[in-house]
Amino acid sequence: MEKITKPRGTEDLLFEDTRKWHIMEEIIRTSARKYNFLEIRTPIFEHTDLFVKGVGDTTDVVTKEMYTFLDKKGRSLTLRPEGTTGAIRAYIEHKMYGYDNQPIKLYYMGPMFRYERPQKGRQRQFHQFGVETIGIKSAQVDAETILVGLDVCKGMGLKNLKVLINTLGDNESRLKYREALIEYLLQYKDELCNDCQVRLEKNPLRVLDCKIDSEKEFLVNAPKLIDYLNEESKVYFETVLKILDDLNVDYEIDNRLVRGLDYYTDTIYEVVSLNKESGAQATLFGGGRYDGLSASLGGPDVSGIGFGMGLERMLISAQVENPELFDERPLDVYLMPLSNEVSSYTLTILEQLREAGVVAEMEYFEKSTKAMFKYCERNKIKYAIIIGENELENNTLILKDLENNTQEELSEAWLEIVLERIKK
Ligand code: HAM
Repeated sequence: MEKITKPRGTEDLLFEDTRKWHIMEEIIRTSARKYNFLEIRTPIFEHTDLFVKGVGDTTDVVTKEMYTFLDKKGRSLTLRPEGTTGAIRAYIEHKMYGYDNQPIKLYYMGPMFRYERPQKGRQRQFHQFGVETIGIKSAQVDAETILVGLDVCKGMGLKNLKVLINTLGDNESRLKYREALIEYLLQYKDELCNDCQVRLEKNPLRVLDCKIDSEKEFLVNAPKLIDYLNEESKVYFETVLKILDDLNVDYEIDNRLVRGLDYYTDTIYEVVSLNKESGAQATLFGGGRYDGLSASLGGPDVSGIGFGMGLERMLISAQVENPELFDERPLDVYLMPLSNEVSSYTLTILEQLREAGVVAEMEYFEKSTKAMFKYCERNKIKYAIIIGENELENNTLILKDLENNTQEELSEAWLEIVLERIKK
């Protein structure tokens, strides 16, 4: 019979993988906590309209990549391709703009879904950590979101990265630029790829980062957004850069960075890994400001900024740059019953150890002593507790230090002594 396998672009995370994910998730939660971002969990699926309105009906994400389906009542639902629109929907729905503590600083972590061509670092089900600061427009806050992302990178031991930053300006600046860009690109319409000929009318800024067209000479010489910024947008961007300078954050202004989602305004950024193992999918996290998003979804006209971090990509980089992060923590103690008769007694010892917080395991198979010592060696276990019939009879146990090859027989105060030895 033909075997059923996992869908293309998805992963099974087995023991060895989830162990690494737990380490990463703990680092992320620690950074989020330090920067005072609080977690929300929104549904994995939302009404399709939310993404069409929020992300934009001409973006690749909406036109090509969504997992959309009808439920039994014929409602169109979509597996979330990203987290910002769901977070803003929840912000509006729960009237968070009325909460005492402003701005709202939230984070989320979980699976997202995009129908893309899978490759290393690009999946159809992938995971993001995202932060959003909603309810304030402030250059400090722009910088803060970059800092929390970099703090996670630091926690993971990632150093080989680059911060790319740009501004899209406010609505007025962007509209002026859009007109100039369309006028310029119309001269080269025939030289654009098929997708870009459509983008030219609907979403011309996206032509700038088209993978097919972006290296063509006429695009390199295209008008630059930075020359169309009004005074307010220019000053705002300069303030963000000044704050980053003051904080000694290295960055590179990338005039052609536009990002793929329609809700962005003003500051946008991407942090890319420079490891060659990251290949073409090197953006670890990317985000920006989205000042019109809440209003476009029927909420108050508030500002927001945040980023999404690709967790599969973070793991790829960390395994290259800092593999020690994932060194396995062996069992504190391994219990070796020498015969079937002592297994119940061994289990009572095991339970007391666990109750005291010790990471412990006993051998359930009837194995030879030699095989059990082999197990300890292979798993780098330092302490074994050996229990034979003598120990059962006398209510004792033998604690063996496998590194120093010493052993001691313990009776009443055994637990305190074991805890003491493990601590060392
Ligand atoms: P995005 O650039 O579409 O932005 O995605 C953010 C990050 O998610 C990417 O930089 C990448 O690391 C990861 N990512 C995206 N697609 C995939 C994929 N198919 N496989 C693996 N990783 C992927 C957003 O999603 C915005 N919501 C970010 C944001 C938050 N902007 C403001 N607030």
